[in-house]
Amino acid sequence: MSIPTNLKVVVLGESGVGKSSVVLRFITNVFNPTSEATLGASFVGKALSFNDKILKFNIWDTAGQEKYHSLAKMYYRDADAAIMVYDITKRDSFNGLKKWYEELKENGPRDIVVAIAGNKEDLVENEAVSPQDAKAYADSIGAIFRKTSAKTCTGIDQIFKDIALKIFPE
Ligand code: GTP
Ligand code: MG
Repeated sequence: MSIPTNLKVVVLGESGVGKSSVVLRFITNVFNPTSEATLGASFVGKALSFNDKILKFNIWDTAGQEKYHSLAKMYYRDADAAIMVYDITKRDSFNGLKKWYEELKENGPRDIVVAIAGNKEDLVENEAVSPQDAKAYADSIGAIFRKTSAKTCTGIDQIFKDIALKIFPE
């Protein structure tokens, strides 16, 4: 048995985009349609076998409400990866990622792996951000991009595997 390699992942983005739901789906494979706003931040962990390693994802799910914004720094400061989540039906939640990215660049680790999750992909009929725009933005900052749905599972395991692969290329 190999010793697990710890990876610290911070999840950022506006309130209501589905950060906690994405994390809950990844950790326990459950979806809660009445998920409540996170207070402060919450911490969960999950181990995955990846190639010849055991990766332990230590995930900090931050609170998106503005009053908690200043706390986020404590969590991304020494993170290996950040998942920036937006809601594909809310343009503002996508525009807000630029601010998060600038903050990460300014105060975060220099080599932090950044991933963008366009969440609520199941609501594609109300899409307000084209995947092309989101992908172009992700490419411009060297970030991973995935459309995800905490409701249907789309893209959830993949985004964590993309992160693992970027940190430990085969
Ligand atoms: P804060 O903790 O306030 O920052 O919000 P959050 O980003 O953690 O949002 P949360 O996961 O609590 O989800 C907000 C609402 O969106 C809840 O009603 C969820 O059930 C719903 N939701 C989350 N992900 C999805 C999704 O993929 N599809 C759909 N249809 N609803 C989702
Ligand atoms: Mg939350």
